[in-house]
This record gives sequence, C-alpha cells and structure tokens, in this order.
Amino acid sequence: MTRSAILGTGSYVPEKVLTNADLEKMVDTSDQWIRERTGIRERRVAGPELAASDLGVPAARNALEAAGMDPNDIDLIIFTTLTPDTMCPAAACWLQAGIGANKAAAFDLNAACSGFIYGLQAADAYVRSGLMRNVLLVSVDVMTRVIDWSDRGTCILWGDGAGAVVLGAARDGRKGVIDSLVRSDGREAELIYIAGSGSRLSPITPQAVQNHDHTLKMKGQGTFKTAVRCFTDVCVETLDRNGMKLSDVDVFIPHQANLRIIEAVAKRLRLSMDRIIVTVDKYGNMSSATIPVALDEWVREGRIRRGDHVLMAAFGGGLTWGASLIEW
Ligand code: UT7
Repeated sequence: MTRSAILGTGSYVPEKVLTNADLEKMVDTSDQWIRERTGIRERRVAGPELAASDLGVPAARNALEAAGMDPNDIDLIIFTTLTPDTMCPAAACWLQAGIGANKAAAFDLNAACSGFIYGLQAADAYVRSGLMRNVLLVSVDVMTRVIDWSDRGTCILWGDGAGAVVLGAARDGRKGVIDSLVRSDGREAELIYIAGSGSRLSPITPQAVQNHDHTLKMKGQGTFKTAVRCFTDVCVETLDRNGMKLSDVDVFIPHQANLRIIEAVAKRLRLSMDRIIVTVDKYGNMSSATIPVALDEWVREGRIRRGDHVLMAAFGGGLTWGASLIEW
C-alpha cells in the first residue's frame, strides 16, 4: 500500500491586525484579562472583500510551490471550513477556479476547529488506497464573520487565516503520515454552536439576526475542561496504538484556542513547551487553519527536520477532536 506524506506546506493570514487595545474600545475588556486568560495579544481580520477561498488561494499556491507541483498535478481538493464563501458551491470549487486546478475533484469538509485533522485523515486514506495520487488539503476560517462583536466572552478569541498542505506518495523511504484518529460527540453540539444560517433556520429572519442567532455561541468553561481531557486522551491513544511514547514526539502542534489549554495539555502529557508550537498569541483561534499555519511557519523556519515525529491534535465544535502522527 502507498504511504502518504506532506510534500509541501503553505499559509496566508490577512494583513489587518486587531489588537487587544482595539478590542478594549469595542467591549468591556482589557488587554491584561485577554492575555492572562487566553495568551492572545492580537489576531488577523480579513477585509470585507475577502471570503474563505480568497485566503486559501495564496496558501494553496505556497504549498504547491513547496511541493514542486503544478495545479494540474492535483487530483482532489479537500477544503475544511465552517465559514465557506457560499453554501453552494463548496469553497473547494471556488478555490479550484482560483488556482486553476482544473483536473481535480473538490469538496468541503466541516469538522469545525478539528477540520485539518479530519481532512488529513481523509487525504491520507485517498492516497493510501490509490484512489487519488495528489491531494491538496486547504483549511481556512474567516471566523470574524460569525462573531458576535458585542459578546466579550467570545469576540476576543477568534481570528482569520488559511493553511494548506499537498499530500502525495511518500518518497525516499519516508514514513510520512503514520496514523490519524478522529472522534466526535454530537450530544455536546450546543457547547459551540451557530444556530442560524443553516437549514434549521432558513431564511434567517430579521428577528433572528437581532438575537445574534447568526453568530457563534460558546460555553467557554465547559468547552475548556472537555478540550483538555479530549486532547490528552486522543494523543495518548494515537501514540499507544502505534507503539510510540510521548518521549518519541519531537514537535507537538496543538490546536490554538487558548494558551492555558495548551499549557494544561502539556503538563498532563509531560511535554516541555519548547517542543510545542504556539501561535495563539499573534493569531488567536483561526479554527481549522491554526494547525497548518503553525506547521508551515515551523517548516519554513527549519524547525521541523527530516525524521522528526510530529504530533498534531485538535478539538472543536461538534464536538469533534482528533490527532495525527507524522514522520517528517
Ligand atoms: O476552538 C474551539 C474550542 N474553544 C475553546 O477551547 C475555548 C475554551 N474556553 C476558553 O478558552 C475560556 O473559557 C474563555 C477564554 C472563553 C473564558 O475564560 P474563563 O477563565 O473560562 O472565564 P469565565 O468565562 O469563567 O469568566 C470569568 C469572568 C466572568 O466574570 P464574573 O462572572 O466572574 O464577574 C466573565 O464575565 O470573566 C468575565 N469575562 C471577561 N472579562 C473581561 C469574560 N470575558 C471577558 C473579557 N474581558 N473578554
């Protein structure tokens, strides 16, 4: 069976920076509270003319270039997002037209903040089975479009960004993607929830908009506790079933929701922070884009080297969570 590997990475974040000081002027909050409770200093905001696929295009181009591939080499585009350009067609199709990957099939996958891990498992399965040769996985969220800017409990957390990877057959004896494990629990759906804009509430009414039903609601404390438990369990289970230990992990890339969650998970897993990528301070929570953006930054800085064992784990709405293990 063909093994798959990440052959190229790319990312893009919009230029506009929204600082904690900016938020102090919008809601009753403070830079100190946000930094102490979340670790976030600033986040990026996409201009009104930019939709998810517009952020995805430069990230995808960077990943293709890094992989040494042409858009026509791509057989499948998987676009993970909870904020697609349109309900129809899929953001994957808008992106396909944007990069000219005209031979590819294209679809969207929504697993909220866990989208990249779900997408990686799917892309790996397509390549392993031989059904697709090269898969472009693009993870983008424009979270600032679904935020309630009057809710200080959520509006300080989120940002916009895009990450992409190209998966293809592992070469030169590389192991590549070792394993991915994904889980979900629909009974906890209302912990992180957007009530309006789907078929449950369509067309959205002026009354629903007035109630902010088109924006994201989150039960912060419940989500925090569950996140720490699920993150830890899925990492241990993924390593266990591959006969590996936490000491074998060279780089850990956790989903970036809150620095306190990352630190709590690091403590439980006994992983030192110098092996953990943190970007939440400068980008906030970009939902499914957080892991591939962090991955791309460390790859480009030469901080992930051939042979490194990279463990990635995510948690988010659904609830959904999962982990992937890669030999770089
Ligand atoms: O990616 C998807 C997964 N998402 C997550 O994992 C998010 C998980 N949750 C969290 O990150 C945290 O729960 C939050 C950052 C959202 C909130 O932090 P917390 O330590 O759980 O605070 P809290 O909700 O318990 O609120 C503590 C206090 C409250 O005031 P009182 O009731 O003690 O007077 C809040 O009203 O802090 C207040 N508060 C704020 N104060 C200043 C809440 N938000 C703010 C704010 N600025 N932005």
